[in-house]
Amino acid sequence: MLDIPAKTARFITFEGGEGVGKSTQVKRLLVRLNRLNIESIRTREPGGTPKAEAVRAFILQGRSESWGAGAEAVLFAAARLNHVNQLIAPSLQSGKWVISDRFHDSTRAYQGLTGGVDTRLIAGLEELALDGHAPDITFVLDMDPKIAFDRVNARELESALAETGDRFEREDLDWHRRLRQAFLDIAEHNAKRCVVLPANQDPDALEQEIWDVLLRRFPELDSEAGA
Ligand code: TMP
Repeated sequence: MLDIPAKTARFITFEGGEGVGKSTQVKRLLVRLNRLNIESIRTREPGGTPKAEAVRAFILQGRSESWGAGAEAVLFAAARLNHVNQLIAPSLQSGKWVISDRFHDSTRAYQGLTGGVDTRLIAGLEELALDGHAPDITFVLDMDPKIAFDRVNARELESALAETGDRFEREDLDWHRRLRQAFLDIAEHNAKRCVVLPANQDPDALEQEIWDVLLRRFPELDSEAGA
């Protein structure tokens, strides 16, 4: 029997600061892939598995804040290790595309470049947690934090979580500016993998831009579209 190679499933991540609209674009991309009958899953970090979601709740409610950024980097990595082992790797192996709302670049940006955690610790944790499963492509959605900030605040006002928010969203504007620069620096140093797109634009237009990049990067999508 001929050994026909399975179609390559792709691993796509979305990164960026708070309120840039990652989740919307992740959902829209999944719809596009489903329309082409490309099996795919949507996930997020921290989270994606029951254990990693438990770590998410622990960190985002602020319960690990007093531990310091280094220990938090370890917690994010523990959640990621479980996420990769239990969900990401098996999904890719079974041919499903994986779209994740945040992944390892968030640890580099938040805990590393903005939080001041030693790059050697970040790199070591990353090697352990990823176990070779780096994303094929990463979209860095970029926006002036002042605009993103206003969007997040407007959203929170409408939300039942208005009094608490999540703790990273409560940092001040200057911190968010440094975070934005951190993501841009990561993209610059990983230019093959990362694509920076302006997020302060109409979501339909951004969705199309993302799709155009994917069509160029993964020509097999074009043949699926024509199939
Ligand atoms: P989000 O789902 O709203 O993006 O919230 C996740 C928060 O956790 C966000 O503020 C970024 C932060 N975070 C880190 O600090 N480090 C990480 O490694 C990840 C994945 C998220």
